[in-house]
Amino acid sequence: MYKIVAKRELAPTVKLFEISAPLVANKAKAGQFIILRIDEKGERVPFTIADWSREKGTVTIVILEVGKTTRQLGAMKEGDHVLNFVGPLGKPAEIENYGTTVCVGGGVGIACIYPEVRALKAAGNRVVSIIGARSKNLLIFEEEIRKFSDEFYIATDDGSKGHRGFVSDILQTLINTNKHIDRVITVGPPIMMKVIANLTRPYGIRTVASLNPIMVDGTGMCGSCRVIVGGETKFACVDGPEFDAHLVDFDHLIARNRRYVEEEALSLRNYEEATSKCRKL
Ligand SMILES: Cc1cc2nc3c(=O)[nH]c(=O)nc-3n(C[C@H](O)[C@H](O)[C@H](O)COP(=O)(O)OP(=O)(O)OC[C@H]3O[C@@H](n4cnc5c(N)ncnc54)[C@H](O)[C@@H]3O)c2cc1C
Ligand code: FES
Repeated sequence: MYKIVAKRELAPTVKLFEISAPLVANKAKAGQFIILRIDEKGERVPFTIADWSREKGTVTIVILEVGKTTRQLGAMKEGDHVLNFVGPLGKPAEIENYGTTVCVGGGVGIACIYPEVRALKAAGNRVVSIIGARSKNLLIFEEEIRKFSDEFYIATDDGSKGHRGFVSDILQTLINTNKHIDRVITVGPPIMMKVIANLTRPYGIRTVASLNPIMVDGTGMCGSCRVIVGGETKFACVDGPEFDAHLVDFDHLIARNRRYVEEEALSLRNYEEATSKCRKL
């Protein structure tokens, strides 16, 4: 059992959990993820390792509540335990001194890009960070990312903070003003990563995206996380989750992520009914 040693609400539907998992904390690297299961009836769900402490033996994950499992997790408290916490999984991010690296994070992807921003800065890069969310109350890890960035930009869809619009607008402006960019790393909703990849492709700027297909085993055996990269089938859990964004078939990823929409809606409905009955009793 893995104890939740700390929990913090970062935004109305975004929760941070620090979980005691010394073996995972000991090996964790930027770009990797874990798969957890709340209890013996729970589904296996992947979350990026947002931070870790080898001294305390803890791993930090940040969760956006979208469906049944993330809602259930969001309702858990400090002192509660999750049954399984497997990791670190996936290949670590490639961290080298590339020169100027632009890190683009959207939504909960902001938390996922944080360890990469920190590692890229430590490797000597000039780090330009662009983070974006629908509204300012959904912006997370702002101060943490700003601390390790040479330049820092915010975009919100509604203009409540920073640039009114998308993270890609800011990247386009940087390119238009002839800012030299050696590499772009992007984590966020697939549509956002697709837009970023389409933007940088004509300029030949090496761009890496962290993919989030539906995963089950996380070991390359079930085939659930199949993605197409450069016309070849890859398994995001073992070959990724980071890939050359210019080669990723994002439309295929988006379509595959919608394949259980009905089951997911039913599962959430059942969970909401069960929890509202409990509240009434
Ligand atoms: C490598 C990786 C890292 C991730 N890191 C984070 C993170 O740090 N924070 C975070 O909030 N989310 C992260 N996700 C997505 C997260 O796993 C899903 O949001 C979660 O599984 C949804 O479960 P649910 O039961 O709450 O929702 P569901 O109702 O099951 O699904 C809601 C939506 O989430 C997606 N989803 C469902 N199951 C999975 C699954 N097993 N794997 C991936 N996506 C799924 C689907 O697109 C679906 O539309 C990551 C996914 C991957 C693959
Ligand atoms: S999650 Fe099963 S092969 Fe990747």
